[in-house]
Amino acid sequence: MPFTLRKAVFPCAGLGTRFLPATKAQPKEMLTLVDKPLIQYGVEEALAAGIPDILVITSRGKSSIEDHFDFSPELESALQQKGKTKLLEEVKAVSDLISIGFVRQKRALGLGHAVRCARDMVGDEPFAVLLPDDIIRSETPALLQMKGVFQQLGASVIALMRVPREEISAYGVVEATPHPFPGPPNRLFRLHGMVEKPSAQDAPSDLAIIGRYILMPEIFRFLDATETGAGGELQLTDAIRNMLAEFPVFGYVFEGTRYDAGDKFGYLQATLDFALHHPELGTRFAAHLRTKQATL
Ligand code: UTP
Repeated sequence: MPFTLRKAVFPCAGLGTRFLPATKAQPKEMLTLVDKPLIQYGVEEALAAGIPDILVITSRGKSSIEDHFDFSPELESALQQKGKTKLLEEVKAVSDLISIGFVRQKRALGLGHAVRCARDMVGDEPFAVLLPDDIIRSETPALLQMKGVFQQLGASVIALMRVPREEISAYGVVEATPHPFPGPPNRLFRLHGMVEKPSAQDAPSDLAIIGRYILMPEIFRFLDATETGAGGELQLTDAIRNMLAEFPVFGYVFEGTRYDAGDKFGYLQATLDFALHHPELGTRFAAHLRTKQATL
């Protein structure tokens, strides 16, 4: 079937320096957002987009990610014996539905290098990339929105978000023109270029690249041919920029709110929002915040 999307890659081999000391001995991807580790939100998003084949790029000290998605016979039988069936279902839910593989990136040589480590397991088919510390809360999962675009266009699609000018220098920014699309207006763009962390006056647009990508397998050829950039790192955006010259690449402004949970402040914002929307904790937490607000 044309334009099938079956595989999702989760690069998790970074050093997580922005979240030290919490990430010294614990993977950033396993930081808890209310009651689930960050990476589980991404894996659930992939599942919601109909993608059950998960490939995690890991490194030393990240084995808790493997344990989290593995079966846990002792815990499961203890919960069974105690009649805690709801918790048991929650513990098993994701692991039962996915097929998961792990590949080691031996040195943190950049996001592009991490994606290149997925080549053998991805093979010659389109695939999704989700950065687990980019958390998106939306009615329709962001990757599912992008998959709809990908299936119509049969080309690479990357997630975009509009960012105020004063904050744009923290992002990769695209040069793009609107592209006709039957969905909501002003969301789909054909990309012509991209600049990493431009100053506000040099930014080609207010459209920032966010950590969700659907990539055609040709990206591997461009990753091979792309020079390493600053700090000896191979950047995924550099390879996508090189691909633009030969293949169409589109950007989609997804509906939803994105949090940079790899950053301490972004993580706190995400925690607050997810706690307020939690089905069991939300009402109590909102009441707690109201009492707190009176003391601020
Ligand atoms: P980040 O730059 O956000 O993650 O990379 P980092 O390097 O872990 O964090 P800081 O900036 O030092 O705090 C984006 C994603 O790419 C992965 C990271 O794990 C993260 O999910 N990554 C980055 C790799 O897998 N390998 C790398 O060499 C670099």
